[in-house]
Amino acid sequence: MIAGNRPINYLRISVTDRCNFRCLYCVPSSPFAVIAHKKIASYEEILRITRLACELGITKVRITGGEPFVRKDIFSFLERLCAIESLKDISITTNGALLTRKKIKKLISLGIKRLNLSLDTLDPAKFARITGRDRFQNVKDAIFTAHELGISPVKINTVILRGINDDEIENMTALTLDYPFHIRFIEYMPMGDTAVKKQQQVLTREIKEKIESRFGKLLPVQRTANDGPAKKYQITGAAGIVGFITPISSHFCSECNRLRLTSRGTLRPCLLNNYEKDILNPLRKGASDDELKQIIVDTLTKKPLFHGLTDPSVKGIPISHMTSIGG
Ligand code: 5AD
Ligand code: SF4
Repeated sequence: MIAGNRPINYLRISVTDRCNFRCLYCVPSSPFAVIAHKKIASYEEILRITRLACELGITKVRITGGEPFVRKDIFSFLERLCAIESLKDISITTNGALLTRKKIKKLISLGIKRLNLSLDTLDPAKFARITGRDRFQNVKDAIFTAHELGISPVKINTVILRGINDDEIENMTALTLDYPFHIRFIEYMPMGDTAVKKQQQVLTREIKEKIESRFGKLLPVQRTANDGPAKKYQITGAAGIVGFITPISSHFCSECNRLRLTSRGTLRPCLLNNYEKDILNPLRKGASDDELKQIIVDTLTKKPLFHGLTDPSVKGIPISHMTSIGG
């Protein structure tokens, strides 16, 4: 599948909108309802859509949420997903709180070799303030256990917010000195009405300056075929990598190879654009494989070449919350 000259081979599947955390930058500040269970795509339905997407050229899948590990029987789903022959690469984005050693071992036995975990601070009190949960030790243990058991790379997503954790940039970066982690600083995207104010957004340039003034010049790392949008660097002699994901200061839409399936069973060609196309209800009403494939292809014709987050003339952007789209 091609969209605007971009080959689309990557499907992100959100398996649930529910999450056991309440991250400041993610959850709405006003009361919100979770999606009714019957409106959430069943594993069977997700698998059918995924198989059809694979027939159209998808070879990589990432599982997201909400928090994927809060969904019941997630391992039975992962097992069936991993059995799809044409999928070459399956990874998961998780907050790590429920990832015990036993579960990580199980993931590895299924062939899942890569994980993205979220961690914004090394200070337990700050962690509780950001995520709304006192689970720092669980997440830290998950990160180190994943590393110890051979997950590679262990990617760590960090959102820096002014006045909250902008004093953690150096601490987080220092982890890469001894461990082969990829610490990825993601610019805060204003999505829906979170408790975060625009002034709290810290852009990559500022983060990079702080890192370089402490650790010296960041050396660019050669991109590889499987690279996502992160621009990768290394501190001289470090074991790991520092990445920057810059949806605000420099958008990467022209390289975006993704399609998203939300837990409500809609396809989204872009995270930062509210266009979405329902595939679940047609499926439930008996659509044929060819009809469903046509829905996937049609969705991609709507994949935008740029997003409006940085355009002052575009008002009211966005949007649906991350929990319902899946990061
Ligand atoms: N801006 C930037 N990153 C966000 N994440 C969640 N909400 C936002 C936001 N508004 C990140 C989290 C998580 C990943 C799935 O998305 O850090 O690691
Ligand atoms: Fe949950 Fe991830 Fe959102 Fe935090 S960022 S509330 S862990 S979905």
